[in-house]
Amino acid sequence: MLPTISYLQRRDRIESYFDRTAADAWARLTSDAPVSGIRATVRAGRAEMRSTLLSWLPTDLRGKRVLDAGCGTGALAVEVARRGAQVTAVDLSPTLVKLAQERLPHDIGYGHIDFRIGDFLDPALGEFDHVVAMDSLIHYDETDVQRALTGLAQRTSTSIVFTFAPRTPLLTLMHVIGRAFPRGDRAPAIEPVAAERLRASLGHQPDLAGWQPARAQRIVRGFYISHGMELERR
Ligand SMILES: C[S@@+](CC[C@H](N)C(=O)[O-])C[C@H]1O[C@@H](n2cnc3c(N)ncnc32)[C@H](O)[C@@H]1O
Repeated sequence: MLPTISYLQRRDRIESYFDRTAADAWARLTSDAPVSGIRATVRAGRAEMRSTLLSWLPTDLRGKRVLDAGCGTGALAVEVARRGAQVTAVDLSPTLVKLAQERLPHDIGYGHIDFRIGDFLDPALGEFDHVVAMDSLIHYDETDVQRALTGLAQRTSTSIVFTFAPRTPLLTLMHVIGRAFPRGDRAPAIEPVAAERLRASLGHQPDLAGWQPARAQRIVRGFYISHGMELERR
């Protein structure tokens, strides 16, 4: 499936945002360094989402191949590797991938992480048992989120656990306000997605025949609002 122009444009902006504009802030947010009150709530919410997504994966992943799609600084990839998985951790941002490699602990047990710089939709990454995509689809619109999930599903045997930004009054307001600023000055907008509509359309898409949406969990902690969902083979 060829990527849409909107996907490619968005992907370029996400890459420059995470690789340059936000790289330092992101490094700090994902570390143990002290952060302000709002960022502390985001950090707490993200920790809760990470453990929710991990709870939807088998505790024993020995011999399994897992893709961490948009791995950032690699926290989730490390936890998955500790369960014994062979992890491919890919991100658009060379800066964040380098940081993830530097932060890689020595004690990941039988697991292994192969870090890559690139697009998580690249078929050359291979085939997987499970895919995790935490907060890496939140800047794509609903159509591109669905197309990304369809692309990932074609090379995944068991489940995809991912998050999106749910359409809530607060996020819709932030989206509207964000659009009032000049393009170059701001982060790529977070694209709110209607949770029930996404669930219904994922359940009925011909390209996702054989897959069904399963567990879901919304996490709201201060300014962190994210909706986790699992897609599994029937
Ligand atoms: C909000 S961060 C989350 C990072 C990580 N999953 C976490 O939860 O800490 C989103 C990440 O997704 C990456 N990303 C977005 N689109 C991507 C794509 N098409 N291919 C690879 N990485 C992508 C960005 O570069 C960024 O590092």
